[in-house]
Parts: sequence; structure tokens; C-alpha cells
Amino acid sequence: TLKNDLSCALLDWYDRHARKMPWRVGPADRAAGVIPDPYRVWLSEVMLQQTTVAAVRDYFTRFTVRWPTIQALAAAPDDQVMGEWAGLGYYARARNLLKCARVVTDQYDGVFPDTYDTLLKLPGIGPYTAAAISAIAFDRPETVLDGNVERVMARLYDIHDPLPGSKPLLNDKAAELTPTVRPGDYAQAVMDLGATICTPKSPTCGICPLRDPCQARAAGTQPDLPRKLPK
Ligand code: ADE
Repeated sequence: TLKNDLSCALLDWYDRHARKMPWRVGPADRAAGVIPDPYRVWLSEVMLQQTTVAAVRDYFTRFTVRWPTIQALAAAPDDQVMGEWAGLGYYARARNLLKCARVVTDQYDGVFPDTYDTLLKLPGIGPYTAAAISAIAFDRPETVLDGNVERVMARLYDIHDPLPGSKPLLNDKAAELTPTVRPGDYAQAVMDLGATICTPKSPTCGICPLRDPCQARAAGTQPDLPRKLPK
């Protein structure tokens, strides 16, 4: 099937080109049976909500050295966590981070819930983050729709309707493509593709694993997509 061809092409590319990140269990380790720590996946996804991978890297390492478990973080004084967060911005994220750590520690015995619906109820976890944690930490076939994935879908299907109105359609396309095999790797593969090849400006279509099926590339519209309504 088409879905199979596309997700396989993407997973095959990810096996060769996955970016290394301190919170990521790479495709080889995952294939060898290494299971990601939901605490690290959650912490990284909250930090990445409004911040780039490059900026998050060292913060993530300092946080996890100082507080290696969710129980450790839950027990930390507020001012120390806020101090360690200083510079990342959007400080409501840090306050929700602590709230969430304390809820998971106190109400879930320190064990992160693994379903989208339960994750969504936790402080600081919205639809994107709930899907990302469920997919990456628990290998569930969730539809993970961030800005990167929106761009990849708009181009792959040559969707010209502007964001934010086109979000439901882009979400449908992303859901349709999500495989039931290796969904955690797949979620990160689409994000990596959007971050490194299917970039907003000058995408490097010549080396893209999806260049053949990409409808925008065929039409020559890829530099203009996704369209966005002026704010
Ligand atoms: N952006 C947000 N989360 C990410 C992840 N897990 N991998 C790559 N880019 C991301």
C-alpha cells in the first residue's frame, strides 16, 4: 500500500540519518530492545514546546543530572527548578512541569500514564505533547502533529488551504500515514525530516526519501507550502 511504502521509506531513512539527542533512544538501540524512560521523553517534549533542539540540549542534560527521576524532580524546591529553567523562557512551562511531576509522583506512584487521554489531563500536557509522549515513550501509533509534520504533510499532498484552517486536514493525512509498526521511531522520523530536509526555506528535495511521492515537488509548489493566514 501507499501508506506502507511512505512510512517504510521514512523509517528506512531514519535508520540511516536519525539525529542524536540526549533524550533519544536511537533506532539501533530501540531495535535492540532499549526502552525509553518516559520521564526523559516528557521532560524533553515539554522543553521543546517553544524552544529549539539546539537550545534545549544543555538544559536537558543539567536537569537530568540534577534530577534523574520524576520523584527527584517532584521533591525539588520550586525556586531551584525555576533557577535551572532560567533562560528557556515561557516560565509557565516550568511551573506546570513541577505540578505534573508531583501529580505523577503522588497519584500515579511515579509511573507515567501511557495513554493519550490520561496524559492529556496532566498539567502542561496538550494534544501535541500527549501524542508525542504516547508515541515515543510507549510506542503507540499516535498522530503527532507539530509544525514540522504540518509542513511535510502540506507538501506531500500539495495542500494549499492555509493554516490554521487546514489543521484538521493535515491531521487526517498525518493519521493516515502513521504506521502500527515502529510508531515511536516513525514519529521522530517525520520530525527529523521536517527539521533537516523538508525545511521551511530551500528544502533539499533531491535527497528526500519522499521525493517521488511528494505532490508539491511534482507541482513545484513546495517552497510556498504550507500557506499561512496572516496573524
Ligand atoms: N521536536 C520535538 N520533539 C522532537 C523529537 N522527539 N525529535 C525531534 N524533534 C523534536
